[in-house]
Formats: sequence, C-alpha cells, structure tokens
Amino acid sequence: MEKLTGRKKIKTAVFISGTGSNLKNLINFSKIKKSPISIDLIISNTNKAKGLKYANQFNITKKIFNFQKIKIVEKQILSLMKKENIHFICLAGFMKILSKNFIKKFDGKIINIHPSLLPKYKGLYTHKKAIENKDKFAGCTVHYVTAKLDSGKTILQKKIKITLNENSISLAKKVLEQEHKLYPAAIKKIFN
Ligand code: GRF
Repeated sequence: MEKLTGRKKIKTAVFISGTGSNLKNLINFSKIKKSPISIDLIISNTNKAKGLKYANQFNITKKIFNFQKIKIVEKQILSLMKKENIHFICLAGFMKILSKNFIKKFDGKIINIHPSLLPKYKGLYTHKKAIENKDKFAGCTVHYVTAKLDSGKTILQKKIKITLNENSISLAKKVLEQEHKLYPAAIKKIFN
C-alpha cells in the first residue's frame, strides 16, 4: 500500500448493515490528525441500519442501495465512488457479499473486520460457535477482502480469553470493545 507521508487523507467509504458501532469508532478515529483516512461516504444495503444515523450526526454523505440486482448496484456504487473520489473501503458489519469483479476494481483497498480469530469461524454466529466448541480464546481480525468470504490476508488480529461462564452475549461485548481498538490500528498499519 502506498505511503501517505505528507499527503492528504485518503477518502474512504464505510459499508454497513447494522448498528454501526465500528462506523462511529472509525469516524472518530478519522478526525484525529494522525489518521491516514477520512470518512466521506457511508453505504448501506438497508435503510434499517441503525448506524445510518451517524451520517446525519457527522454530516457524511450516505447512500442506500438495494442489493437485489447486484451487478447494477455495484456499477452504481463504483460510479458514486469515482465521483466522490473514494480510494479505500472499510466494511463494518456489512452483510452483503461483493462480487469478484467489484473487489478486483478495488484490489487491496477493501478491508473488513470479523469477530473471530480467522481462519477459525468464517461467516456468522462466531461467538456462539466459540462457546459451543469450548474454545479457550476468541477475538477479532481485520483482513483484506477477497472474493472468498472472510479469507483474505490478515492485517491485525486480537486474541482474548473466554472466561468461565461466558455466554455469546458477554463474549460479543468483549470482542466488540477490542474491535474498536483493532480497526484503527490496522488502518494505521496499512498506511504508515
Ligand atoms: C462486528 O462484530 C463486526 O466484526 C461484524 O459485524 C459486527 C458489526 O457491529 N462484521 P457494528 O455494526 O459495527 O456495531
């Protein structure tokens, strides 16, 4: 990834589908002087995503796309990103799978946060799986996005201990707290 020294912040889009706590955290991070990125666009596949409120709160452009016709939608997103001069994408709880073609166009410039110690537990219900399997550790991973779900190269990973009597709700809370530290750290690692 190109070095940023002495250059403007990289215009970034965040894709969300839900609560948007990672989005909010990334927006706050983007505002500090040392952040390599600025958040200039929020994209969602649903107008029900609670995190969309941060677009209004922080005065960031938001766009909602219906992903039923994925080819058309991705074309629209690509042209929007070109118009807005977006060069980096952070997926943060985005529940749609982007096509190979789309990912190729942003090769090495799309990253995602996943609530497990990848390659363990790709996909959904990661905390439930970790508890059911009586794992000793859980965690989160920031990785590059490739055409294969949750399989791109790891940028950073954080491991945490699963305590006695842990349930998937308490674990999710603990992991999410770590996600909020890990995502900015991974972005710094990429660009600095
Ligand atoms: C996070 O656990 C993230 O790792 C996963 O989806 C969740 C999104 O949470 N991909 P939020 O919407 O950022 O609060």
